[in-house]
Amino acid sequence: MAELAIKGGNKVRTKDFFAWPDYDQRELKYVEEVIKSRTWFAGMRGADPGTKTEEFEKKFAQYHDAGYGIACANGSVAIEIALRAAGVGAGDEVIVPALTFIATLGAVLQVNAIPILVDTIYDTQCIDPDEIEKAITSKTKAIIPVHYGGFVCDMDRIIEIAQRHDLIVVADAAHAHGAVYKGKKLGSISDAATFSFQESKTMTAGEGGIIITNDNELAEKCIQYRSCGRHEGESWYIHYVLPINYRLAEIQSAVLLAQFERFDEQLKRKNENAHYLAERFKDTDGINPVPGDGNTDVNGYYLYLLQYDKAKFAGVSRDKFVEALNAEGIACHIGYPWPLSKNPMFQQVEEGPRGCPFTCPYYGRQISIKDQKFPVTEKICSETVVIPHQVLLSPRSDLDDIAAAITKIKKNASELL
Ligand SMILES: Cc1ncc(COP(=O)(O)O)c(C=O)c1O
Repeated sequence: MAELAIKGGNKVRTKDFFAWPDYDQRELKYVEEVIKSRTWFAGMRGADPGTKTEEFEKKFAQYHDAGYGIACANGSVAIEIALRAAGVGAGDEVIVPALTFIATLGAVLQVNAIPILVDTIYDTQCIDPDEIEKAITSKTKAIIPVHYGGFVCDMDRIIEIAQRHDLIVVADAAHAHGAVYKGKKLGSISDAATFSFQESKTMTAGEGGIIITNDNELAEKCIQYRSCGRHEGESWYIHYVLPINYRLAEIQSAVLLAQFERFDEQLKRKNENAHYLAERFKDTDGINPVPGDGNTDVNGYYLYLLQYDKAKFAGVSRDKFVEALNAEGIACHIGYPWPLSKNPMFQQVEEGPRGCPFTCPYYGRQISIKDQKFPVTEKICSETVVIPHQVLLSPRSDLDDIAAAITKIKKNASELL
């Protein structure tokens, strides 16, 4: 008789982990308030009474030690708006990590700039400052560090490099709401930081995004790019810059205000439970939490990241291991399957996508993303096991099931060969 659930044995767990998205009466109450107010859109800033969007922007920015928050439609356009507002455009190069969601790179393409991919660090899964240095050219305009999974990148070095080369730093913090780096919150470290409120994120309205910054000129430009190129407080029909509507709706801001009220407690609980889980994994050779570099005081914990060593599991592949864990009732997945360069959008065309920005006359160079190699990112993508953040909100007994399932798979690994 097989022991492992994937081979017909009993599952370790039959219950679900903590349900996400989380909500209570507050989401319902604040949404009802918006509905009844008949102010459903947030375009009239400065009106009396203020909008839910303004209230949320202030609270979120303050929480991250930033002076300004500019809410927008999603985390992808948050990066795009910040880049545009910072003056990044045709012919500029922007350095991004090879390990991230496609949106980081997509935002660069949207402003007609050239994404330059660089490798990451194994123990943080964040962009490698040494690789940033190597990638800088006379065309480099900006760096987008991605605070991967919730770890904060090596920002001291990144900011030092940026200052030396006069570059803008827009941190993609879609995974790192609330993270703290060497005592500093994310609003006080880079020129701007952007966040996503898409459903899987640690604070959500289904969709949504925000840019935070301490730079009032940058904030003012973000406001224009967010809302049809208008100047705040001026006529509705005068447009100064690229006029697209990237606004968030009031109903989304109502949900986010409710989410924000429980966020801090949830973040604390996740950090405590992550430490608890790490202790549980100490006895299981071959599966270790990604250690970080010791500089992330509070991890944003969008993802709980594990390094899997198949040699310690009788040679069972990472993918098979994840399938077996899923079968035991443990929520986990493999994360990003490859460095961004391996995506079909780069692989199927000779020299990347046709037309601008890759063949932009302002650029005057040709790069071939498809042939670029990122050995550390490749290794990370082949060895990582990702546990989604809401699992860390579950009771300790549920977390014990994760350790128990891993121990069970290790003991019976031969069934998987
Ligand atoms: C690292 C990263 N950046 C940006 C985004 C884009 O956010 P959104 O889905 O809200 O556009 C995501 C979304 O998953 C992400 O993971």
